[in-house]
Amino acid sequence: MKALVLIGGFGTRLRPITYEVPKQLIPIAGKPLLYHCLDLLPKEVDGAAFATGYKADAIERFVRANPLGFPVETIAEADPLGSGGGMKNAGGGMSDPFLLMNSDVISDIDVTALVAAHRRRSAFGTMYLTEVEDTRPYGVAGLERDDRIDRFVEKPEPAESPSRWINAGISIWKRAVLDAIPAGRPVSFEREILPGLLDRGVYGFRGRGFWEDAGTPERLLRAQRLLFEAGRAPPSAVPPGTRSSRYVSFGARDRVAGATLGPYVTLGEDVTVEPEAHIEDSILMEGSVVGRGARVVASILGPRTVVGAGHDVARSVLAERSGP
Ligand code: GDD
Ligand code: MG
Repeated sequence: MKALVLIGGFGTRLRPITYEVPKQLIPIAGKPLLYHCLDLLPKEVDGAAFATGYKADAIERFVRANPLGFPVETIAEADPLGSGGGMKNAGGGMSDPFLLMNSDVISDIDVTALVAAHRRRSAFGTMYLTEVEDTRPYGVAGLERDDRIDRFVEKPEPAESPSRWINAGISIWKRAVLDAIPAGRPVSFEREILPGLLDRGVYGFRGRGFWEDAGTPERLLRAQRLLFEAGRAPPSAVPPGTRSSRYVSFGARDRVAGATLGPYVTLGEDVTVEPEAHIEDSILMEGSVVGRGARVVASILGPRTVVGAGHDVARSVLAERSGP
């Protein structure tokens, strides 16, 4: 089984950090968002194509330096092709069926069960669905009694929403789905292609565990809390002199003696937190510095960001410098 992972997109809702780092490489609960997503792939996946674009080089470098358990081919778009265009462009080596995955969702989705349900029905496609209160930011499925999808509306107005079951960002498709996508131009799979495929037998697979699209600062930090609580943060070595509560992930060469940390904190490498400072519910990327007595809460600091002594940072996304 091959997997096609969509990794383009500008991460606009996480600027200014995403001017420098692609969203997928922001570390949450101890490792990049992308690698938490890929943890969901079942063992039978023996290769993946990464449809990249924005900051493709950074993704490529990271994947080469941190190999996965299967070979990965990265296929970069010169200009963004959208979800459908990215599938068409990168889908050449896909298996029949193949898995399709967004690269910004964290969950405890059971992809093996999704694959089994798809095969049992000989479906054209099967989409993992999760239930949310506010459907407006997502793609929403209308379902028949047997979970066949009879409508799909991307980012509907509340009155237009066919249900509260949304596309969770993981699905499995017959290879023929790629034939339905025009080549050489930007295409939204969800808006332009999917509604026209429903006649061919597309089913929903309802999941009830945790799920979050980590595309905004609030949701990224919520995703981090969920991952810590689910025990999905890799173990990390605690630096000397640390005063931390639970749910803190450290990087190499962090200096944090005399500060209080946690819960829900990820530190990148070479981070300095001076004595009497307090960090909570936050992400501090590599090389960032928090001065003596400062407080950083519910915030994300990009690489090498400096917070001065005594400063109070809350609900903020900061970078060393802003602008492209
Ligand atoms: N290759 C490529 N090219 N990938 C892209 C492009 C592009 O032009 N644009 C976006 N992507 C990637 C993003 O990196 C992300 O992994 C995925 O496609 C989805 O893009 P988002 O921008 O995060 O979309 P969304 O969150 O608004 O909506 C999508 O995800 C929801 C679930 O999180 C849709 O698939 C919705 O239907 C779905 O409910
Ligand atoms: Mg998203």
